Amino acid sequence: MRLPLVVGNWKMNTTPAQAEAIARDLVARLRDVHNLEVVLAPPFTSLPATAGVIQGTPLRLAAQDLHWEDRGAYTGAISHFMLEAVECTYVLVGHSERRIHFGETDHVINRKIHAALRGGLRPILCVGEEEAEKNSGRLREVLIRQIERGLDGVASSSASRLAVAYEPVWAIGTGHAATLQDAAEAHRIVRQALEHLLGEAEAFAVRILYGGSVTSVNASGFATHPEVDGVLVGGASLRSEDFAAIVRAGW
Ligand code: PGA
Repeated sequence: MRLPLVVGNWKMNTTPAQAEAIARDLVARLRDVHNLEVVLAPPFTSLPATAGVIQGTPLRLAAQDLHWEDRGAYTGAISHFMLEAVECTYVLVGHSERRIHFGETDHVINRKIHAALRGGLRPILCVGEEEAEKNSGRLREVLIRQIERGLDGVASSSASRLAVAYEPVWAIGTGHAATLQDAAEAHRIVRQALEHLLGEAEAFAVRILYGGSVTSVNASGFATHPEVDGVLVGGASLRSEDFAAIVRAGW
């Protein structure tokens, strides 16, 4: 079976000192947790401080983004080499906030996925429809396009390093999470698209996370649903008590 994966996306929050404090608290709260993977995604500048705290624990580190090239004249950008050097295991790619605020296209996202895989990182491809797309019945079309373009050219042999986060844009930071039924439907569409691209057995191994207003209250529904392999948590992941409760929601 797939090992559940719970990821905290701290977005543009935390100084290194604040990140260190949250990570310390989480390490203390999650000492005895096993049978799932817990991953923290602080901003770039807080990666080393967080890495220092979680070293030697089962917690893992993710970056929130990376550049598609290995190195070069790209002022302000961070490459997979740099992330590997500060102990990152995972990297988020194509978060809807990157798509919306930074103009990332499926093509750019695809190049980033390849950069992560070229290095030693495990990419978490984020997909999800906007509210208008949902309301006009375009969920399937949008998800299939984002998966097919985002993973274009990815070898089946890389499937074991991939994860996908289904995050409906209308659910992110709104307090309105998708219902379990809606999330499960979207996860089935994602799984089918992955099967089509990577092969059935390989697609089976890919973890599909739900993201969008996950809280310590609604997490247990997601945790016990067979189609949901984990969650990507934004706001609630900054409060260690809430995030620890999500990790302990019964995965
Ligand atoms: P949220 O964010 O949990 O604050 O809705 C989720 C995300 O953007 O990953």
